[in-house]
Amino acid sequence: MEELDYLEEPDMFHDVFGHVPLLSNKHYTDFFEGISHIALDYIDNPRAIELLGRIYWFTIEFGLIRESGELKVYGAGIMSSYGETKNSLSDNTEKFLFDVEHVFNSDFRTDILQERYFVIDSYEQLYTSIPEIKSKLKELLS
Ligand SMILES: [Fe+2]
Repeated sequence: MEELDYLEEPDMFHDVFGHVPLLSNKHYTDFFEGISHIALDYIDNPRAIELLGRIYWFTIEFGLIRESGELKVYGAGIMSSYGETKNSLSDNTEKFLFDVEHVFNSDFRTDILQERYFVIDSYEQLYTSIPEIKSKLKELLS
């Protein structure tokens, strides 16, 4: 029980409880697949992979969603951590509307509770951001 909040990988609780449920959501999986294809296009470019890692981090791992006016967690890194869940929904952390350029410009640390989160309106918003992720990434790498 004392290891449940944060485990060294492989962390089956994180994977099964955090990641698996949303794989039944079409827009979410299309987004997941979309960023995977972009990553494959840049697989030999460490800077591009670092930037795409920020998109992944602030959505799939640490994303928040506002549904019917209520702030909720959907990122697997939050869902599988009691401490991160409390932290993410508290007034002590920064919340920004999901914005591709802002996410690309946001570094993160993996060893602390997060200090900022990005909030989506819907999973469709993630999916429809794929063309902008492609174009902004191209722009940042040029
Ligand atoms: Fe994860």
